[in-house]
Amino acid sequence: MPNERGPTLTADLFDAVRDVRPSREAMAEGAVLLRSFARPFENEVIAALREVIAQAPFRRMVTPGGHQMSVAMTNCGSAGWVTDPSGYRYDGVDPNSGQPWPAMPAVFRQLAEQAAAAGGFAGFAPDACLINRYAPGARMSLHQDKDEQDFAAPIVSVSLGLPAVFLFGGAKRADKPARYRLEHGDVVVWGGPSRLFFHGVAPLADGEHALMGRQRINLTFRKAQ
Ligand code: SIN
Ligand code: FE2
Repeated sequence: MPNERGPTLTADLFDAVRDVRPSREAMAEGAVLLRSFARPFENEVIAALREVIAQAPFRRMVTPGGHQMSVAMTNCGSAGWVTDPSGYRYDGVDPNSGQPWPAMPAVFRQLAEQAAAAGGFAGFAPDACLINRYAPGARMSLHQDKDEQDFAAPIVSVSLGLPAVFLFGGAKRADKPARYRLEHGDVVVWGGPSRLFFHGVAPLADGEHALMGRQRINLTFRKAQ
């Protein structure tokens, strides 16, 4: 829900206290939804995001099957997730620019570390942040995050902008996914027994978000290498 109060520090702090403390939903063993966890970080995160996408703009990548993804992506950190007709991989270099991906902003790392710790995974040190941009209608089909070298580290997923329906299934593709409405500032952490669970995002409904406009942006932090 957009913050309808004035942007005073006090209002922001009260929002953080009201929204963060009581709103922790267990999704599965090792998986938790931390409602509004990112709200106290939002201004700094949005400013840092702007700098990242100025250096490494969003692009719609092509899957090994030859389909252009509806979600536009970019990355920051020492490794970035890419797909092209030859396959999926982590790469230190942005294939569009030939340059290393932008460094991971300190506020991104702090948010990811703190959320992971709140989810039971202390000491998370992400080296990759995949940034997904959903325009209305964009979706992500059910998949596992399994291109990382070490599954001991969790995945930390931060939602910004328009709400989306997150599908969180089980270890098998056929497991019926539960549906969670993720709003601006919500964070999902999954690891341990649910680290390889199938997940996806239903087609984004149209709308206008007060801070982010007509889009949803998702940051997924990983330990890739
Ligand atoms: C992903 O699985 O990489 C994205 C999940 C999301 O957008 O919430
Ligand atoms: Fe994923």
